[in-house]
Amino acid sequence: MGVMKEYRVAVVGATGMVGRTFLKVLEEYQLPVKEYVLMASKRSAGSKMTFFGREYEVQELTQTSFDSGFDIALFSAGGSTSAKFAPIAAAKGCVVIDNSSQWRMDPNVPLVVPQVNPQDIAWHNGIIANPNCSTIQAMLPLKALQERYGIKRVVYSTYQAVSGAGRKGWDDLENGVRGFVDGQERPLEKFQHPIFNNCLPHIDVFQENGYTKEETKMIEETRKILGDPQMRVTATTVRVPVFNSHSESINVELEKPFELPELREVLARQDGIVIQDDPAKDVYPLAVNATGHDEVFVGRIRRDESVESGVNLWVVADNIRKGAASNAVQIAQRLIAMWNQQ
Ligand code: A2P
Repeated sequence: MGVMKEYRVAVVGATGMVGRTFLKVLEEYQLPVKEYVLMASKRSAGSKMTFFGREYEVQELTQTSFDSGFDIALFSAGGSTSAKFAPIAAAKGCVVIDNSSQWRMDPNVPLVVPQVNPQDIAWHNGIIANPNCSTIQAMLPLKALQERYGIKRVVYSTYQAVSGAGRKGWDDLENGVRGFVDGQERPLEKFQHPIFNNCLPHIDVFQENGYTKEETKMIEETRKILGDPQMRVTATTVRVPVFNSHSESINVELEKPFELPELREVLARQDGIVIQDDPAKDVYPLAVNATGHDEVFVGRIRRDESVESGVNLWVVADNIRKGAASNAVQIAQRLIAMWNQQ
């Protein structure tokens, strides 16, 4: 019997919101890893984190961090850190799984949701990109529908949690709640307007065509992952006063006619989806129930009666887990499985 290889893995940005979830998810998934190294900026270098029941000292990320030889690095330390350090790691033979938007649209970089386009992992050149959180959860139902019926057009409307805006976004909502209770207003740290008791149709920066960068990411990443550069896709992305888990209304126009019961079956069969759709019992996907899980929850499945062949879906997932950390760890898991088969 052969001995299965064990790997060396770096977690870059381990102290951040997504980084901490990386650690939690890695503990759960139990990859065949012999050594983990946690990295962050100079600011938190030397600090201690508990991981797999023991203490790890956080290392400063530098130009020479990858010289000692890593197989995989999970990056979630912002776009500029990825821009600079991912190529350095890749040049040393390490495969970077990058959570930032830096490399997603690079034609030499696969953009992967493991349940949707695992075959794209194979052609990496040292960097694999993790899609935007809102894109990831939409891909599972859309892939299933695309394969069976073909997709003509997609309209996204999102209801996104503040955890996607990092610690400061979370604090703006928490402080808004406190202010509502005690009448003391706190200054905003992240958002342009109060997020408490409000909906902000503004995620990431505005671009010349009036769309935000978040909306553009959803449109472009959808086309890349589903392998249809011409697909008609539009999006309105909105930050709502929810702490965690993104909800999305997805309107899809299909190429072929469909029967609703069969379409439900098609969605239910997709790996990674859980159907929650029993309106008579008030059952539909909810952010509070999705939090802590890695599945994508789909409900409110109903015909769009305004077009020939359309369907409306309500799609909810934990944006920090499936939308970021868990998706990246699932990519690592498949990469390792691929190596072990070679
Ligand atoms: P640090 O804790 O040292 O600042 P978040 O998205 O929650 O703000 O987390 C960002 C993560 O990225 C943190 O772990 C942060 O580390 C890390 N980070 C930010 N800038 C750098 C950098 N220049 N080099 C390495 N890690 C960085």
